[in-house]
Amino acid sequence: KKVVLAYSGGLDTSAIIPWLIDTYQCEVICCCANVGQEEELEGLEERAKASGASKLYIKDLTDELCKDFIWPMIKSGAVYERKYYLGTSIARPIVAKWMVEIAEKEGADAICHGCTGKGNDQVRFENTIAALNPELKVIAPWRIWNFTSREDLIQYLDSKKIAYPDSAKNPKLFSRDRNIWHISHEGGPIENIEIEPDEKFWVLSVSPEEAPDKPEFVEIEFEAGEAVALNGKKMSPKDLLVELNKIGGRNGIGRCDMVENRLVGMKSHGLYETPGGTILCFAHSELETITLDRDTMHYKDVVAERYAELVYFGQWYSPLCEALNKFFDVTNKTTTGTVKLKLYKGNIISAGRKSKYSLYNEKIASFGDVTLYDHKDATGFIRCFSLPSRVRSSMEKAAGLK
Ligand code: ARG
Ligand code: SIN
Repeated sequence: KKVVLAYSGGLDTSAIIPWLIDTYQCEVICCCANVGQEEELEGLEERAKASGASKLYIKDLTDELCKDFIWPMIKSGAVYERKYYLGTSIARPIVAKWMVEIAEKEGADAICHGCTGKGNDQVRFENTIAALNPELKVIAPWRIWNFTSREDLIQYLDSKKIAYPDSAKNPKLFSRDRNIWHISHEGGPIENIEIEPDEKFWVLSVSPEEAPDKPEFVEIEFEAGEAVALNGKKMSPKDLLVELNKIGGRNGIGRCDMVENRLVGMKSHGLYETPGGTILCFAHSELETITLDRDTMHYKDVVAERYAELVYFGQWYSPLCEALNKFFDVTNKTTTGTVKLKLYKGNIISAGRKSKYSLYNEKIASFGDVTLYDHKDATGFIRCFSLPSRVRSSMEKAAGLK
């Protein structure tokens, strides 16, 4: 029997290895995906093997995450529950996809993950696995074993004489998840929703108070909805995001404190930092104001909300998500141009937009030119537009409803 484990080298996954071996008498193959979490991957292989694993796969997925997941999501304009840029959600399907590839290559029977039984992540992993290979079994130790605390895990590892990271001794009591797009902070002291979170939780951004007293300008260039250059310099999605994260972070941009509805039903409180992403989404939306016609824009906003649910619920590999991605490709065909923004103490302020496909026509909107639109045209239009109002109002009067 073979099990492929999503391994981070932390306390939980260190304990999962011997537990899997004890429980299933299986071979454990570890996988650690680099999605930009900025964690030390050095020495991880030795650590996995010391815990009993037969091997460790490490792969840098950041480029693919940006190109094939984050960039399409920016084109959609998706935001979950008005605030969340889906930072953790969008990075789950790519990791699960890679694990399925390894499981197939290794001829493994199951995939194992260390998510708790209360969160969204377990659903995202398992739904992706289900969509890509229905034969693979899933093992979720936190829903099976009898350990309930960090102390239990430490005691178990001690009894097996297996080492674990020093950080396990002084735990931070809350949970973080980082990738190239964002970092999340949840749990422990963050669960109190009635107070402003302590400054110490934030890691990618300074507070607006600490941000420079002078604004910083950025210019972002898009081609068919995809950011291709920053301040006049062509860049790969990954490099552009890394740079924009620094710029946003030092100007106090992209902090989010929200209460959200988890897929499993409960409400939870989270702090998110998406410095570069918040700027990119703002810029993209700003460009769309001149490249999209009214009907397309309004309809796109409606489906973007549904699409945000698909991403949040871990339904990336679904027919609906695939179809919507195609829809967003079409609506983004002419979203080409540049957007200039002023960043100042946590604020993003528009400072100009330009597109060769712009639908904005100063001549039509202002007085004077009557070739495309004559003031007199409005009279007939308003008569027809207001006809239902007049009909209803007359009826209400006649019927004594008014
Ligand atoms: N609540 C956010 C989401 O569901 C963040 C989850 C963070 N996950 C974690 N394992 N710390 O997308
Ligand atoms: C977890 O419980 O594994 C993290 C939180 C979440 O997935 O929503």
